[in-house]
Amino acid sequence: MDQITVRSECADDIKAIDVVHLSAFEGDDEVGLIDTLRQSSNYIPDLSLVAEFNRRIVGHILLTRVRLQNERDGEDILALAPMAVVPSQSHRGIGTKLVEHAIRKATELGYGAVVVAGHPDYYQRLGFKPASDRDLHCSLPISPDLFSVVELKEGCLGKGGNIIYPSVFTKVY
Ligand SMILES: CC(C)(COP(=O)(O)OP(=O)(O)OC[C@H]1O[C@@H](n2cnc3c(N)ncnc32)[C@H](O)[C@@H]1OP(=O)(O)O)[C@@H](O)C(=O)NCCC(=O)NCCS
Repeated sequence: MDQITVRSECADDIKAIDVVHLSAFEGDDEVGLIDTLRQSSNYIPDLSLVAEFNRRIVGHILLTRVRLQNERDGEDILALAPMAVVPSQSHRGIGTKLVEHAIRKATELGYGAVVVAGHPDYYQRLGFKPASDRDLHCSLPISPDLFSVVELKEGCLGKGGNIIYPSVFTKVY
């Protein structure tokens, strides 16, 4: 694992990142999602992270801004999606390393919380909690059990509310 490095993406990485997602997911919906997000104001270059092994990109994670609709509207909340590791390198802890690095970086940059719509067992062992515990819902058509959150700044989620994902996310959920 020591040979795995995690860093922010650069312009030269874009094709390799697409290959990671094409190899890990069925179809190219995630590649389309990343492409659209990159061109939006929700995109934060520092929070698009790649994992490298032997100078080859083997994993990618993206955190982008989403809106928390509640009495504290305006908090800086991030959504984790998508994330992928090439199948030949999976089960080596690369996904874990990407999530941990992304949370650390988001905290350093002053963001309040990260939400994720995905396998709860995977994310909740990495510090995420069920979003329903915080009365937090999301605009995606998913089961509430699949929605998790990690608060980075105490109190930033207020009394809960609705997380509004950009409409492009409905292509993958
Ligand atoms: C999910 C994914 C990113 C994990 O990457 P990884 O580098 O293999 O993850 P790690 O090695 O850090 O962790 C592996 C552990 O996570 C857990 N895990 C992996 N996939 C899981 C899943 N779908 N549901 C629940 N737990 C899962 C298992 O406990 C696994 O442990 P094991 O190796 O002992 O079997 C990778 O499998 C992937 O790209 N999958 C396809 C794309 C995808 O589903 N992305 C997530 C979208 S929410």
